[in-house]
Amino acid sequence: MTPADAQAKIVHLRAEVARHDERYHRQANPEISDFGYDALKRELAVLEEQFPQFATKDSPTQRVGDDRVQGFKEVAHRQKMLSLDNTYNEAELRAFHARLAKLLGTDDLRYTVEPKIDGLAVSLTYEEGKFVRAVTRGKGDRGDDVTANVLTIRTLPRELRGTAPKWVEIRGEIYLTAAEFERINAERAAAGEELYANPRNLAAGTIKQLDSAEVARRKLEIVLYSLGYCEPQVVDSQAELQKKLKAWGLPVVERYWTVRGIDEAWAAIGELDRLRHGFAFGTDGAVVKLSDFDRQREVGATDKAPRWAIAYKFKPDTARTRLRGITIQVGKTGILSPVAELDPVLLAGSTISRATLHNEDEIRRKDIRVGDLVEIEKAGEVIPAVLQSFPDERPAGAKEFDLFAAVGGHCPVCGGKIARVEVAAEDAEGVAWKCLNYDCSAQRAGRLGFFCSRRALAIDGVGGVMAAKLVELGHVKDPPDLYDVPLETLATLNLGTVEEPRVFGEKNATKIVAAREAARGLPLEKWLYALSVPDVGETTARELGRRHRSLAELAESSLLHAVLKKAELGAQREWEAPASRKNPAKSDEDKARRKELCARLDAEIAALDAGALAGVPADIGPAVAASALEFFASAPGRRLLAKLRKLGIDPQGTVATTGVFTGKILVITGTLPSLKRDEAEQKILAAGGKVSGSVSKKTSYVLAGEEAGSKLDKARELGVPVIDEAELRRMLG
Ligand code: IVH
Repeated sequence: MTPADAQAKIVHLRAEVARHDERYHRQANPEISDFGYDALKRELAVLEEQFPQFATKDSPTQRVGDDRVQGFKEVAHRQKMLSLDNTYNEAELRAFHARLAKLLGTDDLRYTVEPKIDGLAVSLTYEEGKFVRAVTRGKGDRGDDVTANVLTIRTLPRELRGTAPKWVEIRGEIYLTAAEFERINAERAAAGEELYANPRNLAAGTIKQLDSAEVARRKLEIVLYSLGYCEPQVVDSQAELQKKLKAWGLPVVERYWTVRGIDEAWAAIGELDRLRHGFAFGTDGAVVKLSDFDRQREVGATDKAPRWAIAYKFKPDTARTRLRGITIQVGKTGILSPVAELDPVLLAGSTISRATLHNEDEIRRKDIRVGDLVEIEKAGEVIPAVLQSFPDERPAGAKEFDLFAAVGGHCPVCGGKIARVEVAAEDAEGVAWKCLNYDCSAQRAGRLGFFCSRRALAIDGVGGVMAAKLVELGHVKDPPDLYDVPLETLATLNLGTVEEPRVFGEKNATKIVAAREAARGLPLEKWLYALSVPDVGETTARELGRRHRSLAELAESSLLHAVLKKAELGAQREWEAPASRKNPAKSDEDKARRKELCARLDAEIAALDAGALAGVPADIGPAVAASALEFFASAPGRRLLAKLRKLGIDPQGTVATTGVFTGKILVITGTLPSLKRDEAEQKILAAGGKVSGSVSKKTSYVLAGEEAGSKLDKARELGVPVIDEAELRRMLG
């Protein structure tokens, strides 16, 4: 690999990891398994090691994730909350021991081996034995104060038993039992609400709810396993700490092992693996900790993780079964996805009869055929995936799968035309078959479900089943039609079958009506995302929503036209460059003319960058601009806008035309004392300003916080005024 390729790959991997971090930590709604995530991070770490010139301190391999969300007070941890390094095999575990033995000059080391609880990390503070607060890990040094929510946990003692230290941070994990997870999801399913993928996400989603009464309805549990800051010190080792936590009356892990040497640790991990399915909490690995606290201090920690502990991750559960058939689902964008229909098999505690096959290319690549014995894996997501087939045990005559033939060349739902398209889907890039009929009922139902999903307008109650029913019965064509469905109609819908009816009910219907009314007031960014505009994902919707005042403005956006203009000028610039390979200059005269033309084009591009496009992030590129403008000019787009207008729905962007920062460009750098970067940006945009990622002569102010780096230096060098958070607040009045 060339350094340039490596750099490009590193940038791509960092962006991917950041995107998955956001979904895991903040939205509690991951899209890939932990295993897949770790694999991405490892790939990144390996590249950074091979190409140290591209390693940076802010790479996700060097820091703790960030789980902070808006609405909670932030509190600093007295001792930083770190993450753990992961290992996946015995050799890596032994290497961990060898490192410690080398650092400490002896290999006679005692460890504890504990279950790695798959929950959400918290830090509890007890003063003089009394519980005072609970804070999430956040960014490691400061997290969100979730005390009110943690107080709903019945098993959490408000006071420690026996003698307690003056001041102590006790760390642990919040989780939901599998039974409680299933109870809540069943309740949600009955109410037509979106389901949570797994107990961990539901626990994380719950703790980050602002409404504690709602939290109290879900029985969260907690288990404690380590110390942060403690004054005075009360124990000398992890083994003693486990006993002390129990003596204080805190919930602790059901089993842990104290062992001597790495052989015993490895044996304990094996035993833990056999026992873990019987634990109350989900366990995705073992944590091996050097027990002696003096030794822990001696080896210390990196910015991200202690050197004295390591997580050994168990492989995701797999099972083998027979592939009985492949059915095709049509999603909200019309993409046809193959689904494996399996002989039911028990996997990670539940019976599985369907699994995802991702796409046709993957089926070919893995050579999976109907009739095959296949291996399936469940790694946290709702839908398990097919890992591989066993061609050696293939029944005679099993044919290669051909999606086009399987659907008879038409959309299996609406019978419409299908075509091969390029997709940059979330989990797979490549080519797929797509139903071209925007009015296909599967697409309509998909869009309606998405419109109502938590991350869009959060109209709880309209999940997949309800959405399909509303479309099937002709009540909804486009998502905004939901507003025209009367309460009585919603209440009397039968979501079951004729033989086994399941009437939606008035209580649930009333909830939908309340939620759809509340959604009217949501900002432009949410509506834009909810309307499934092609190529406009959550981040893009946020960026666009903050730069336009209304959907009508966006439909004819001068900013998006400027993005297209810039791309056009850029292409022309490339073509006209005298050294252009495809269009080399023909004579000296031609060369001179084109040089001049290029200078003019450069000036035009620079003017756009400094004007209409100042502070516009790379997310809003020509592909997005073309998609959004085309969509709002198309018949379906115009139909949507007209329906919203008729309903009196006119979501507002946060843009201010005039404010203290009108015409000003700000750059944010470092960590601000209380505002999150996102919140600061929001305030600046609301005051008419723009936020840019790099400092130049055009920058009006640099807003600097702690650990500001090169941007601050650049500001000083260029004489750009530097302000802090207090000054920003003063300027905003
Ligand atoms: S000890 C300095 N023990 O796993 C780190 N962590 O992936 C001390 N976790 O951040 C952590 N079970 O939230 C420890 N028995 C256990 C754990 C555990 C789960 C979590 C913890 C940590 C994360 C790292």
